[in-house]
Amino acid sequence: MSTPHDKLFPVYVWEAPVRIWHWVMALAFVVLGVTGYLIGSPPGSVGGEASDHFLFGYIRFTHFAAAYVFAILFAMRIVWAFIGNRFAREIFVVPLAALNGKWWHGLFDALHYYATFRGKGPVAQGHNPLAQAATFVFYVLGTAFMILSGFAMYGEAQGMESLTFKLFTSWMMPLFGYSQNMHTFHHLCMWYLITFVLVHLYMVVREDSFSKETIISSMISGWRTSRE
Ligand code: HEM
Ligand code: HEM
Repeated sequence: MSTPHDKLFPVYVWEAPVRIWHWVMALAFVVLGVTGYLIGSPPGSVGGEASDHFLFGYIRFTHFAAAYVFAILFAMRIVWAFIGNRFAREIFVVPLAALNGKWWHGLFDALHYYATFRGKGPVAQGHNPLAQAATFVFYVLGTAFMILSGFAMYGEAQGMESLTFKLFTSWMMPLFGYSQNMHTFHHLCMWYLITFVLVHLYMVVREDSFSKETIISSMISGWRTSRE
């Protein structure tokens, strides 16, 4: 007997560029989180000749190298939203999706399900509306802020003549008043993103265990299949 699932699955959801972006970006995020935390709470100073070690310099260098990877990947991911399949757009088009009443129904149905665990869980080929909205609000907006604020601080050290200063610092810094505020908001936004990642990990493991579709393997093979 055919079920509603048979019409929806199997489906090729995550194309290779999205999968590569996801895993490299996740790794860059971990490096940024660890080095960023150490920049905010530095280790004690090391004894001996200053020229024999460069500990804090290496921590900052690693942060900036991972930051470039993270920012370039985000830019490439935005470009892929235009050329990739329809699932590649989902996490960016939330303001447009929110104009549709059916989308809100889907969002409240999913919220109701996760609050009560009554009824059937949301079924979507890509993201359900709740996952789509959470990814936009936390990941897309949080990442954009991290990149803008990060380069605004970076431009300060590079000097007023630098392109980084002109592109980011010149307008971001006045918005936040002064450098320490920018540090504080950059730091706070790290915890905002860490909150997203913790819930994200819980949800992918949970859905992989209890939903009727493949989840974690989909971000490896690209295919979502039904397990009904
Ligand atoms: C998710 C990504 C990122 C995380 C979690 C993160 C985390 C952090 C944290 C926690 C700090 C310390 C703030 C403080 O307490 O003073 C920091 C500093 C900094 N971050 Fe990031 N960051 C990220 C992305 C970026 C990006 C994309 C750039 C762009 C270049 C960047 C550039 C900087 C700079 C310039 C500093 C200040 C370094 C210093 O004052 O020595 N960060 N970051
Ligand atoms: C080991 C850690 C991680 C695992 C196992 C994991 C797993 C997954 C899986 C399975 C999906 C697809 C969900 C689905 O098919 O419905 C996904 C999507 C996603 N993940 Fe992760 N993830 C991890 C780390 C991260 C991190 C650190 C970030 C961000 C900082 C992140 C951001 C995202 C985003 C934005 C999507 C949506 C993809 C899109 O629509 O383009 N993930 N993740």
